[in-house]
Order: sequence, then C-alpha cells, then structure tokens
Amino acid sequence: MATPEPLAKAMSARLPDGVAVQPRRFEFRALDRVPQYWFDGNPIMTHTENAFSILIPPGERFFIRSVQRFADRTTDPELRDLIRAFAQQEALHTRAHNEFNASLARFGVDVTREVAAADRVFEKLGRYLPKKMQLAITVFLEHLTATGAHLLFGEPAVARAMHPEMLRFWRWHAAEELEHKAVAFDLYREVGGGYLLRVFSAAAAVILLAGPFVASVRRMLRDDPTPITDEMRRRASSLRREVARPQLRMVGDYFRPGFHPWKLHDEAYLFAWYAESQAPEGR
Ligand SMILES: [Fe+2]
Ligand SMILES: [Fe+2]
Repeated sequence: MATPEPLAKAMSARLPDGVAVQPRRFEFRALDRVPQYWFDGNPIMTHTENAFSILIPPGERFFIRSVQRFADRTTDPELRDLIRAFAQQEALHTRAHNEFNASLARFGVDVTREVAAADRVFEKLGRYLPKKMQLAITVFLEHLTATGAHLLFGEPAVARAMHPEMLRFWRWHAAEELEHKAVAFDLYREVGGGYLLRVFSAAAAVILLAGPFVASVRRMLRDDPTPITDEMRRRASSLRREVARPQLRMVGDYFRPGFHPWKLHDEAYLFAWYAESQAPEGR
C-alpha cells in the first residue's frame, strides 16, 4: 500500500522556536495485543482512561466546529493556517480514538452505548450554548488536555503504568495537543473573547462534563466482572494523588487574567518526542 503524503505543517511566530503544528497519521502496530487492563494492570485506571478516550471523538468534533465558525473573523494568515492544521490534527485524533474505542468491545465494553452517551453530551453543548461560549469551552478543554499532555511527558509514574503501545498512542496525541495548545486561545482573543466569559465557561465545562464522565466510568466498572480489590483501589488513588497536585496548579493558572498557554513551557517535551519519533525504531 502506498504511503500517504505527509500533511502540511503550520509554522508561525506565535509558536516557540522549533515548534510547528504538524498533523501526523497514527497507525497502531499491535492494537490486538493491548491487554484489557492496559493502564497499570488496573481496571479502575483503565476504565477511567477508556471513558476519556470515548469522550474524545465527539469532544474534538465540537472543538473543530467551535473554532472553524470563527476562523474567517481573523485576518492573520498565520492564525488561519494554524487553525487548518489544528483541525486536521483533531480529525486524525478522532480517527485513531475511534479505532481504539471500537477495539474495547472485545473486552465486553458496551462501546455503542458509551459512544452514544458521549455524543449526546457534546450534541447538547453544541445545540444550546452560545457560539462564543462554545469557543471559550474549547479554549478551556484545550488547556485541560495540554495539562494532561504535560504530565504524560513529565511524570515518569504515568508513563511506567502504561502498556508500550498505549504509551506510544497517547504520546502522539499529547505531543500534537501541546503543539496546538494555543490555537483556540489566540483565536478567542482575536475575536474579542474576554476574561469573564473565559473563566465562567471553564466552570460551566467542569459542571457539564464531570457528571457524564464519572457515570461512564461507573457503568463500565459495573459491567466488568473482574473484582476490584483494595490493592487496586490503593494503587489507583496513589497514582491519582501523584498527578493531582501538579495538574491542579496548572489548571489554576488558567484563572489568572494574564494567562497564555505558552507561558507553560512544553518545548523540551516536544523536542524530545520529535527526536524519539524520528528515530529508526520510533513512531
Ligand atoms: Fe486531540
Ligand atoms: Fe486539542
């Protein structure tokens, strides 16, 4: 089969030196060999990450729509190019997560039910919320994803807990999230988005999404016949504690009036991933 053409990268003075928004296609090498409990061998952690993965496709479609409907309001050709590359990255993430999510059916996960529930959540946000607020929610969720990406590269305990194929998958996604982390934010500012709507929408996003997310994790755990031991609970809370403090600090930064995504320096993680993924045995 012929290798598809690489997609064009977007470069801009808005990005740190050496960073570009480069959409890349991801191909699983061994999806059928990923074990059921691929995160720390732990059903609690794995169902939590799986629920997150199931929310990603409708979430990313929502992000793309939220951003694209404002794209013609900017006259900056570089920002338009960044938006194009951002949308391509998110569409490719959706494609890969759909493939991964579908694979969960072999472990007895009711993928159809969970995907339908996730779709409904974002369908409602898209239908009832004002367009500017949808963009502001996207800005916040992009920040939240970028904090997760930062931790995936920066916290060795997280990487150690993942099956290698899943680590390669999540790191690809995380690297691209870091590359485009400021695109929605910069557009939001260009179209006159202010501080109050930005922070109000962040709070609204947490309120509207936390419930459905937790419900999805609970349903998947309830359907899973594997007994949950005290040791599994203990391991899950210790891993969560390890990431909670740095993540809360980064989320807190969002509420500063002078916040900008690139005030958190992720360049070193990106350069390391660029080097690793171009190595012969890399991506
Ligand atoms: Fe993404
Ligand atoms: Fe993103």
